[in-house]
Amino acid sequence: MTASIAPIKQSSSIRTNRGSYWITTFGCQMNKADSERMSGILQKMGYELAKEELTADLILYNTCTIRDNAEQKVYSYLGRQAKRKKLDPNLKIIIAGCLAQQEGESLLRRVPEIDLVMGPQHANRLETLLNQVDNGHQVLATDEQHIYEDIATARRESAICGWVNIIYGCNERCTYCVVPSVRGKEQSRTPKAIKNEIEQLASIGYKEITLLGQNIDAYGRDFNVGEYNYSGQTTLSYLLEYIHDVKGIERIRFATSHPRYFTKELIDVCSNLPKVCEHFHIPFQSGSNKILKRMARGYTIETYKEIINYIKELMPESSITADAIVAFPGETNDEFEETLSLIEDIKFDLVNTAAYSPRPNTPAASWPNQLSENIKVDRLREINRLVEKTAKARNIRYKDSKQEILIESINSKNNSQFMGRTRTNRLTFFPRSSSNGKSYKTGEIVNVKINEIRPFSLTGSLL
Ligand code: SAH
Ligand code: SF4
Ligand code: F3S
Repeated sequence: MTASIAPIKQSSSIRTNRGSYWITTFGCQMNKADSERMSGILQKMGYELAKEELTADLILYNTCTIRDNAEQKVYSYLGRQAKRKKLDPNLKIIIAGCLAQQEGESLLRRVPEIDLVMGPQHANRLETLLNQVDNGHQVLATDEQHIYEDIATARRESAICGWVNIIYGCNERCTYCVVPSVRGKEQSRTPKAIKNEIEQLASIGYKEITLLGQNIDAYGRDFNVGEYNYSGQTTLSYLLEYIHDVKGIERIRFATSHPRYFTKELIDVCSNLPKVCEHFHIPFQSGSNKILKRMARGYTIETYKEIINYIKELMPESSITADAIVAFPGETNDEFEETLSLIEDIKFDLVNTAAYSPRPNTPAASWPNQLSENIKVDRLREINRLVEKTAKARNIRYKDSKQEILIESINSKNNSQFMGRTRTNRLTFFPRSSSNGKSYKTGEIVNVKINEIRPFSLTGSLL
């Protein structure tokens, strides 16, 4: 048992001050959304946000294990805190998220200074788990959970754009991917719970919501069994229509889409609903059908292209982004070239790329045909060059165009500018007041003329 009770500081308010906390979030939007909920729980318990990591009384690392480098990064952060704890035994260290789930008890053995190891399905249970820590236990919470709903009020990073989970987990079995084993089975939230959350966000001034799921177009399929029996009617298309008219919300986005479940019906619905933004993030992973098969992705490049073409047909302005993996086990040079050709063909606005990284408990990790580090580095460099070139070429269409921008915040690097996004999700910077002196506030939607384009962002002036 390594835990001890946090110092109770004297406080003039009625609520007990439990000390300060710091959360570092690694990984994807799912983790970011979980961190916002855990942050909300800590504040409700009486913790306050620390000014900096190294003085916080409670450290929470919400971890990622998608690739080996993500995992190693967590260990290097953790090493620092474990050292600190030797000098300050009152420090509480919590490891949450995907690496916590993957490593479980072995994390406690490797770093005995940790007080609590908790998997992503336990995020909403943070208060209960911390109470166990306060009672002197070193706690491990990685068992399969039904995710408890709506007990946490998130403390959100943005006051304008909010994330709303609609489905947790993933039922796919992509042969390279650790997510299903760390995030568990798909669990869809009910349309009612989702709408309630969006209405609540709208009532406090949020303008944009992004619906979140690892495999978002699979939304609702777990309703066909168990507690809710919607017999296949409750799809993402249905949900978009159901939540569309929440007053105050101006923009709706969703991520991440899986090509296997991305239907024409969904594209029709998106093109008919004015608040749904013209940005689609649909990872293809590889441009080679042979590799897709070995990845167990469940679609071909031909069906992928059909989806993209139909999107472009109905919404020609759309931006299309994706993820791709290079140097998957056994990937030949020709197969790699097929991925490059797909990028040239489709002209993606952005592709997140990564070299294949073997992950624990995944089939591809034990295949004998692993590629060398050199090939990984070379292919990654080559694909990134192409992605940057394509992104820049795609951005040319914005030059001198008028874009509708939702003002999200002041540009942290230049406080005379605002930062916002186009409907197509391009980051855009522009002066805070127009030439006639009119000034604007965050949360407003303004028209901006784009003067300057870079591969991944734009600059403009208010119209
Ligand atoms: N659910 C999403 C992706 C989630 S993981 C989908 O199915 O597309 C985010 C991205 O990480 C993946 O799209 C993939 O490109 C990358 N990734 C996942 N496992 C990986 C691995 N073992 N090595 C390298 N990249 C990986
Ligand atoms: Fe991983 Fe595949 Fe699930 Fe995406 S769909 S999270 S890549 S297993
Ligand atoms: Fe990482 Fe977990 Fe997301 S492994 S990418 S934080 S689902």
